[in-house]
Amino acid sequence: MKVLHIDASALGTYSVTRGLTAAIVAEFVQSHPGAEVTYRDLHANPLAPWSMPVGDDNPTDIEAAKVMDEFLAADVVVIGAPMYNFSVSSTLKAWIDRIAVAGKTFSYTSAGPQGLAGGKRVVIASSRGGVYTEGPAASMDFQEPYLRAMFGFLGVTDIEFVRAEGIAMSDDHKTNAVGSAMASIGGLIRKAA
Ligand SMILES: Cc1cc2nc3c(=O)[nH]c(=O)nc-3n(C[C@H](O)[C@H](O)[C@H](O)COP(=O)(O)O)c2cc1C
Repeated sequence: MKVLHIDASALGTYSVTRGLTAAIVAEFVQSHPGAEVTYRDLHANPLAPWSMPVGDDNPTDIEAAKVMDEFLAADVVVIGAPMYNFSVSSTLKAWIDRIAVAGKTFSYTSAGPQGLAGGKRVVIASSRGGVYTEGPAASMDFQEPYLRAMFGFLGVTDIEFVRAEGIAMSDDHKTNAVGSAMASIGGLIRKAA
């Protein structure tokens, strides 16, 4: 099994999503001995914004091809997705811009768009300061619905969220939110292993 582990938080050791993705990947490795993990830190090593390919020996194009190969090869993709300004971080968006490529991960047919990257499992560790699963801010969540739509567009049907929300509301709230997100990981991995 090949696991692709992606982090995108700018908050280093204070990051919630980095802790969650590490725990999710550790569970996968424990339950699938021999799992091969590829790691990408999109904050430490941000990808260049999308631009027209210029040639095979161009460093940006070489890196873009590597990003695509890693994604296509992965059986499981674990992504840390902090909510930034109601959406995903620009670093994660830059990665998405490299994996959403016509002819590789989707195509347009006479019947409409078709995803070509099915058969993978995508697990997203989501963290946000406020609460969006219910209440007045629910309509401002352009992070999780976007990710669900994006991977659905690419053909991924097996997508799950491990969520800590309301982490900026109080220390207690953060502790409880992160604790229950962490506690959900073992069951999630076992359920669909
Ligand atoms: C630049 C920035 C923008 C943020 N925007 C939002 C936001 O729009 N809504 C929200 O609820 N929290 C927002 N937050 C809080 C983060 O979602 C929260 O700290 C979350 O834990 C980030 O994930 P991380 O801890 O892995 O970095 C923002 C934080 C930062 C640093």
